[in-house]
Amino acid sequence: MTPSTKQLKEYAARRKRLMQQIGKDGVAIIPAASEVVRSRDTHYPFRQDSDFFYLTGFHEPDAVAVIAPGRKAGAFVLFTRPRDPEREIWDGRRAGPEGAVRDFGADQAFDIGQFEPRLAEFLEGRRQLHYTLGEHARWDEVMTRCVRHIREVSRRGAAAPTDFVALETTLHEMRLRKSAAEIRTLERACAISAEAHCLAMQATRPGVNEWQIAHVIHAHFGAHRMECGYGSIVGGGANACILHYVENNQVLNDGDLLLIDAGGELDGYTADITRTFPVNGKFSAAQQAVYEIVLEANKQAIRELKPGNSSGRPHEVATRVLTEGMVEIGLLKGNPKDLIAEGRQRQFFMHGTGHWLGMDVHDVGRYRIGGKPRVFETGMVMTVEPGLYIAPGTKGVPKKYWGIGVRIEDDVLVAETGAHVMTAGVPKGVREIEHLMARAR
Ligand code: GLY
Ligand code: MN
Ligand code: MN
Repeated sequence: MTPSTKQLKEYAARRKRLMQQIGKDGVAIIPAASEVVRSRDTHYPFRQDSDFFYLTGFHEPDAVAVIAPGRKAGAFVLFTRPRDPEREIWDGRRAGPEGAVRDFGADQAFDIGQFEPRLAEFLEGRRQLHYTLGEHARWDEVMTRCVRHIREVSRRGAAAPTDFVALETTLHEMRLRKSAAEIRTLERACAISAEAHCLAMQATRPGVNEWQIAHVIHAHFGAHRMECGYGSIVGGGANACILHYVENNQVLNDGDLLLIDAGGELDGYTADITRTFPVNGKFSAAQQAVYEIVLEANKQAIRELKPGNSSGRPHEVATRVLTEGMVEIGLLKGNPKDLIAEGRQRQFFMHGTGHWLGMDVHDVGRYRIGGKPRVFETGMVMTVEPGLYIAPGTKGVPKKYWGIGVRIEDDVLVAETGAHVMTAGVPKGVREIEHLMARAR
């Protein structure tokens, strides 16, 4: 889609900030994603590279962006597929270099076939080359060939870059702190995804298959021009104890829980929501006991997402609440502090409590600085997703808990005033869930 004037301004502001950081001695090269074959001559639905899209808003494959601060003919250059009336009849419209300038704000644009022949022009005389190595094999080769070429001809006065800088470290710190426009998009992705989870709760009943519930969710995403931000997990009963269960093909049984981890992606930004609820609409006592522990961990961990707090706090708090709860209901025996020191809680809670969220579901940005968890700042977005998973047949655990898997995952913005939950549109309290499900019965 062609960006709106407002979006164009946002992309231009991001490029400007990047230029301020790389300076006049630097140049940045950012390749687009390539199409990936699914079956012989058909491709997987195309997904643009997040870094490239963040800076350009350009949605086509086979493109490269060059950002060269202070360049006389313009600092933002796009190389794109050329217009091709015959190919466009088969494969769809292309912006072409003309469209890149007209609709995407490029100062100059060229046919992608011109990238290698022209690259030296952009690199010569720049001391630092900012590029993410190892992500785009095809372009890595072109880049190294070009640098080598400039070195070879340096006798004639050309100067090759001497400093090779990992672009991702600069860019990913930018992406970690979301702008007002990014937060608006994420809020909407979260709101629609929350609606999808509500519809799934209402459609669930014994005898329905997991894939039918997945379809309810995906249909709602589709109706709002959204795709899945990651492979949906729809796991009934003990399937909830398989953390990345994506087969989604079993019948849902009366008396079991259903765990759904699904998030829709809107304009490049994804939600990431998990809810766990009873297939028949009513929690059993054992299910509720486990559920309430996870819910308390979720709520207490969320409160820790405030500016100035260590980003390690949500996991510390969730671990403490979960471990105390596990002792209370007899999953673990001993003193919670000692159990945590020995890592015993990992038998039932084996993953982290959250991750950055944004364009990528496991979004970019460092977690630790100087060996310590970094401090939360406004505009950061993190998931909070404690869980307990009790595999069937676990020795030393009351049988009534076997096969129960619970995760409750919300998406939380670190706002000036503290934690802002963007996924509050789908209930997580026991009574609220039961009430919503009862309304559909
Ligand atoms: N859906 C992936 C995750 O929760 O991390
Ligand atoms: Mn997550
Ligand atoms: Mn998730």
